[in-house]
Amino acid sequence: MTSCTEIREIAERYGTPSFVFDLEILTERFAEMRKIADGRYHLCYSIKANPFLVPCMNEIADNLEVCSPGELAICKSLHVHPEKIIYSGVNKGEKDVTEAFAYGVCTFTAESVNQFHLISRIAEQMDKKVSVLLRLTSGTQFGMSEEDLLSLIEQREAHPYAQIDGIHFFAGTQQKKPEKKKKELAVLKALFEKIRSGYGMELKKLEYGPGFPVPVFEDDDFSDTLKPMKEFHETLKETAGWADLTIETGRFISAECGTYITRAADLKSSYCILDGGINHVSYIGQMMGMKVPVIRHLKTTDNTDKKEWILCGSLCTVNDVLVRKKELEGLSVGDILAFDHIGAYSVTEGIYLFLSRTMPSVILRENKNSFRLVRNPLETSELNTPVI
Ligand SMILES: Cc1ncc(COP(=O)(O)O)c(C=O)c1O
Repeated sequence: MTSCTEIREIAERYGTPSFVFDLEILTERFAEMRKIADGRYHLCYSIKANPFLVPCMNEIADNLEVCSPGELAICKSLHVHPEKIIYSGVNKGEKDVTEAFAYGVCTFTAESVNQFHLISRIAEQMDKKVSVLLRLTSGTQFGMSEEDLLSLIEQREAHPYAQIDGIHFFAGTQQKKPEKKKKELAVLKALFEKIRSGYGMELKKLEYGPGFPVPVFEDDDFSDTLKPMKEFHETLKETAGWADLTIETGRFISAECGTYITRAADLKSSYCILDGGINHVSYIGQMMGMKVPVIRHLKTTDNTDKKEWILCGSLCTVNDVLVRKKELEGLSVGDILAFDHIGAYSVTEGIYLFLSRTMPSVILRENKNSFRLVRNPLETSELNTPVI
């Protein structure tokens, strides 16, 4: 983990607020996941969780799940192997799909009948066969109903360029109940069987997002953060017996490697105003700062007075409370507060444009004392300025 000494150095060198993502932690964790998978199933990284990890994940993951033209543009500029990309997303336009084809993407998910027809038509125009995974809905706007899915299976011969190879299913994020997922996998198994016996078609692949949960708050259990995958491995192994299985995760791979570095900018009564804020921080389940993430306090003074603080950000909203109650020892202006386990979604989900504040710099820690600045602090005022 990025040490306290390194955090001080990063804050000095690159300023605050900033994100640091530790590639040693990331690669070690991914290697552990590989060990658990034991070659039974493939591992796909959902880049929405943190695109700054793409160069590393491109080398070590089997696939990268890409969900928008913007995410595809990131992959293109980073020269991601196109055959690794699974092009997904609830809204795929003609231009998006054509660009993905042109880049060499050969696997698409179809989230609706219309999407399937669009992919099929473009594939035919480009005279290029592609693999399509039909996304089954889990009861949300994503994916299609079983009825629609079966209708596409029925029509498959009319679409020779869009080869239906399997099913895509996402259980939801931060899923803490393995029983629910087991039931969903049983439904999927029955669907594979139904397609085999009722439609004479052998589906090969299952692209499955288990939404493995991660601990992030002080009270969470950090004793074995890989436990959700270990506990679910037998079920996945069984699943790999009837489908060529890929598991697709974002949070589980990336959460642990990230730290958000802020400084106390001002102190008054019980309020600590940080130079960052909720615009950069997204911990799932942390409503109104009620839960306390793991925070390291790096002091600049010898002050030892303990006090409870309300940790607020720099936005003009009473909602900008990162933590409602946190006891800290000798907190002084200029001290660093480093929020750990922030590698997933914070860098992408924040309300970055509010108040036109500067976006944090992003630093990759390659190994001990070796850092690489991969994004300078980014001014957002230009994005909020009308052209006159
Ligand atoms: C289709 C799909 N797959 C995978 C993921 C990644 O989920 P998680 O970060 O919980 O692993 C998401 C997240 O929204 C998703 O929508």
